[in-house]
Amino acid sequence: MNIAGSIALVTGANRGIGQSFVSELLKRGAAKVYVAVRDPASLSDLLRTGGGRLVPLMLDLTDPTQMEAAAKAAPDVTLLINNAGYAAFEGAISAPDLAGARQEMEVNYFGPLALTRAFAPVLANSGGGTVLNMLSMVALVSLPMAATYSASKAAFLSLTRSVRAELGAQHTLVIGVMAVQTETELGARLPSPRLAPQEVVSDALDAVEAGTNEEVFAGGLTRGAYEAFSADPKAFQAKMSTRLPARA
Ligand SMILES: NC(=O)c1ccc[n+]([C@@H]2O[C@H](COP(=O)([O-])OP(=O)(O)OC[C@H]3O[C@@H](n4cnc5c(N)ncnc54)[C@H](OP(=O)(O)O)[C@@H]3O)[C@@H](O)[C@H]2O)c1
Repeated sequence: MNIAGSIALVTGANRGIGQSFVSELLKRGAAKVYVAVRDPASLSDLLRTGGGRLVPLMLDLTDPTQMEAAAKAAPDVTLLINNAGYAAFEGAISAPDLAGARQEMEVNYFGPLALTRAFAPVLANSGGGTVLNMLSMVALVSLPMAATYSASKAAFLSLTRSVRAELGAQHTLVIGVMAVQTETELGARLPSPRLAPQEVVSDALDAVEAGTNEEVFAGGLTRGAYEAFSADPKAFQAKMSTRLPARA
């Protein structure tokens, strides 16, 4: 699909990769971008850059009542970007309790699942449209220092593939974007070098424009990591398995 003239919705639009998505969508000529956030006050600077094309939308992904409300408030969406994410950076065993793990599943799995269900009819009305899911290389390999985050992204990858199959009948394309460590608040906990958010977003939106309907590996660092993973998955996992949580 063309970004020019599209109507997008970006979750977690106020910072990090989400904010980069918004800027790049505007640059590529999106007609309207719904900027979905938990706290609209966090958008004040971004809204000034939109020239009237940005529409704030209140959306906490842990509140199921807000999903249907969002679909009613944004009935013209053609590109749904499930970007928002949360990482507790905890081990599976050493975490003090399961609160972080549950929050990760709520934000990284149940939230996008509920939102995609709410927007499926909206996308069908537009002729199909595209769903873009922000995944992570840790969907393919487990990182013990972020054990439960890795598990939530693996669940999201599995979901992405099933949703792609199910929405195929209504001509909705579903792209899963893999990325390694990226320079954001979340990525600051991961080792350098890191990708620039713009590099991730540029490759992701190129995939949207190319009509991709599969997983894409965004950024040079991610493609390098995927090559190493493909060459020897067990050795790659063994390397990741040395990155243990601080308190383990
Ligand atoms: N950075 C990396 O290294 C990296 C690598 C691969 C994949 N990713 C994925 O890329 C996506 C964006 O990550 P990022 O690095 O930009 O993270 P970030 O800078 O930490 O931003 C996270 C965004 O998600 C939002 N969010 C968190 N909990 C939410 C909730 N309950 N409801 C709605 N929004 C919520 C945050 O909103 P608030 O401001 O309100 O907290 C914020 O806008 C995530 O899915 C992440 O897993 C990141």
